[in-house]
Formats: sequence, C-alpha cells, structure tokens
Amino acid sequence: MKLFIDSADIEEIRKILNEGILDGVTTNPSLIKKAFEKYKKKSKKIDLESYVKKILKLCKEKPVSLEVVGNNYRQMVSEGKIIYKKFNKYKNVYVKIPVNPCMEKICANDADGILAIRELSKNKIPVNCTLIFTPEQALLAAKAGAKIVSPFVGREDDYIREINRIKFSKEDYFPASGFKKGRKILNDEGIVSGIDLLQECVAIFRKNKIKSEILAASIRNKQQFREAALIGVDIVTLPYSVISELLKHPKTREGMKQFMKDSVGEYKRIVRK
Ligand code: E4P
Repeated sequence: MKLFIDSADIEEIRKILNEGILDGVTTNPSLIKKAFEKYKKKSKKIDLESYVKKILKLCKEKPVSLEVVGNNYRQMVSEGKIIYKKFNKYKNVYVKIPVNPCMEKICANDADGILAIRELSKNKIPVNCTLIFTPEQALLAAKAGAKIVSPFVGREDDYIREINRIKFSKEDYFPASGFKKGRKILNDEGIVSGIDLLQECVAIFRKNKIKSEILAASIRNKQQFREAALIGVDIVTLPYSVISELLKHPKTREGMKQFMKDSVGEYKRIVRK
C-alpha cells in the first residue's frame, strides 16, 4: 500500500519525504490556498506558480495530484492540458478531475467529468478522479481511463450524519460498520460508512480486474487509516496531522523511559564504541 500526504504545505511534505516513507502527494484548491497563504506570511516573496513548481521539484518522480478548477468539459480538458504542460517537468503530475462537476441538482452535464477523463487519458495525461461518493462513480471513472480513483471516506461519513441531522466534529470516529439510530443503520443508498464505500469500490475493482488504483481520500484519523489498509486499498492519502499520530503510543513512550533508566554505564559503553 502506498502512502501519500494530503497537503500542499511544502514544509510538511519535506518532513515526511525526509522520513523516507512517502510515495506521493495529493492537493486540492483548498489545500493550495491554505498552504500558500501560510508560506507567504513568512514574508517569502514567491508567486503561486513557482511555489507549486517547488513542490513538484521536491517530490521529483513521486506522483503529485493537481486539481482543475473548471466545471465543464471544455474548461477541465483545457486546464488539465495546461497543468500538465506547465508542471510536468519531473514526470510526476496527475491531473485531478471531479467525477461530476455539476453543482446544481438538475444539470445537463453530469457526464462532463467522465468525458474530460477520457479525453485527457487519450492524450496520455494521468488522471486522478476525485470527489467519488459511490462505487458506480468509481467504476465509470475507471472505465473512462482514470489511473487513480479517489473515494472520500470522511466526507461520506459527514454526509450520512448530515442527512440524519447528527451533530459531529470532523475528527470524530465514525464506525466502519455504520451508525445505529433506533433500529436502523443509517446509510446513503446502501453505503453505511466511508470505509464501507471504500470496501465496495475495492471489491468491485478486484472482481472485475480493473487496473485503476483506488486511493482512500478524506481519511481523518488513525483508526480509519488502519481500516483502509485492512481492506487492501492501493493508496491512502493522509493529512500531516494524522501521519504524525501513526508512531505514537503511551506504552512505547513508557518503555523507552524505562530502557533509558536501566541502561547501565558498561552496556552504554559497549554499544557506543
Ligand atoms: C483528497 O485528495 C482530498 O483532497 C482530501 O482527502 C479531502 O479531505 P477532507 O475531506 O478531510 O477535506
């Protein structure tokens, strides 16, 4: 399983990269806005284009997803081609295309994302299809040629709580097996949690021998990371805050303290020389 960082913060990316455990980077327009504002505050004189190029150079051959901002076929294809041409010096750009760019309930162009994926893929531009909330969306994105498909685990949990008017905060753990209200397990068209969404995507892809990689996006805590890994997903992308939690355990700390205390002078000498 590959581990990506979900961040456009160059310091966060550098830190995890230096640990030698990073396989790639995912960004979105919100993450770029946040990271670039932070970077500029440190009085660094840099324009956004150079900042993004810095990230790509830092990551060299590791895949970095950059998202389009258009919301129709023509714009998304044009932006995808520009992004690829401008930033692909190190052959590591994936263009992120939303599976369906419609923002209203009634929309004539529900298939624009799929069409854009097909067109970019035909032009050998690797696509990461984003904002996936159903296995059907994942399947169609893969059929259109997306190299990576990204189901949004945490936001699916948010949606199940929102439509059922359940108060929550973003980091709250949502059970993979679903949330019971009265006798009913809450669901979104049969999907009971973000992890369930991921599981169904993985099962469908494996059964149908679909080659596109499945990337677990919108993972909010350690437990979800473990659940995603157990499913056998291809890639998990994590915010820096979650990656930093992965190595911590109170008993590791306690054991460390004890071993330090017990290391006698002579033992120290033989291991240090
Ligand atoms: C993935 O590519 C997305 O940028 C991301 O994982 C969204 O996470 P969030 O729902 O926690 O904002």
